[in-house]
Amino acid sequence: MFAVTAARIDADDPLSGLELGERPDPAATDGWVTVRVKAAALNHHDVWTLRGVGMSADRLPIVLGCDAAGLDPDGREVIVHAVIGDPDAGGGDETLDPRRSLLSELHDGTFAEQVSVPRRNLVPKPAALSFEEAACLPTAYLTAYRMLFDKSGVEPGATILVQGASGGVATALILLGRAAGYRMWATSRSEAKRERAVKLGADQAFAAGTRLPERVDVVMETVGQATWAHSMRSLRPGGRIVICGATSGDVSPAELARIFFTQLSIAGSTMGTRDQLGRLARFCEQTGVRPVIDRVLPLENARDGFAAMIAGDLFGKVVFRC
Ligand SMILES: NC(=O)c1ccc[n+]([C@@H]2O[C@H](COP(=O)([O-])OP(=O)(O)OC[C@H]3O[C@@H](n4cnc5c(N)ncnc54)[C@H](OP(=O)(O)O)[C@@H]3O)[C@@H](O)[C@H]2O)c1
Repeated sequence: MFAVTAARIDADDPLSGLELGERPDPAATDGWVTVRVKAAALNHHDVWTLRGVGMSADRLPIVLGCDAAGLDPDGREVIVHAVIGDPDAGGGDETLDPRRSLLSELHDGTFAEQVSVPRRNLVPKPAALSFEEAACLPTAYLTAYRMLFDKSGVEPGATILVQGASGGVATALILLGRAAGYRMWATSRSEAKRERAVKLGADQAFAAGTRLPERVDVVMETVGQATWAHSMRSLRPGGRIVICGATSGDVSPAELARIFFTQLSIAGSTMGTRDQLGRLARFCEQTGVRPVIDRVLPLENARDGFAAMIAGDLFGKVVFRC
């Protein structure tokens, strides 16, 4: 089958380790099913893998990709949950299984004509969503869903700041948060991206680092070092940062005095459960929310999508059609 593979690690030139070509079809394993992939979405995770973050050379080559929508062996339309884990080992939550992994970390991922996953990792795809839209849900949208509805601890009507408005997770936060009745504020380094964030449903968008008109209840962080100090300063006393990523680096002063003196909380968030993915799909069906897709490319042109993500030249998701 045709597949997009991480063949080598290069922290400075991640594209040099990307290979496109033939790979063996997935082997049949007990309890696992093979999905015919119709669409797969790119995440920053795929770039991290090529840079060697969370990946070691002895696990290569490996097919990249966490997200997919496609057809199961009986021809049913399905969304693939990317977390390979045992809910029992995580106290009912597979993301808390100490041995959990994401597709493309230990097992071949979704940037291929076929992907094999445990049967429990399949969620029905609502007919209202296209394969391209459904393929965006398992990582960026599921992460945003959990950050908003599981980790934020605030009710609709609260004000939530999203740092870095244009990314996959960030656009998902704006869309889902707005649909659920939160007042969504956003920052971006680019004026054009700030305008798009407002069109998407953000109540207001600000240049990165700007003093806000008032302090917010929650900040959603995916950027890390470049925005952390601003996130800390922007919170009301008792507020909370929910963080799922640190694209610009993770070495920021913790500002311990500010944390205890203004009684802030910091909550880490990673992916979501299979059941949350099912509810997210229904949330999209019921609210009419559809993922923001920057571009759809044939899988053969995957390199162009990776290059755009590395350059930060995106607003929303890159989807590969398989
Ligand atoms: N824990 C999890 O389960 C989980 C799940 C999904 C993603 N993540 C992580 O979350 C992060 C975002 O993922 P994504 O797929 O949404 O990535 P992406 O689409 O490439 O988004 C990158 C974002 O970073 C922002 N950014 C702001 N300042 C930056 C700077 N100085 N350098 C680089 N970027 C800057 C961009 O904002 P502007 O250009 O608008 O300023 C943009 O919103 C990644 O680190 C990813 O690994 C974690």
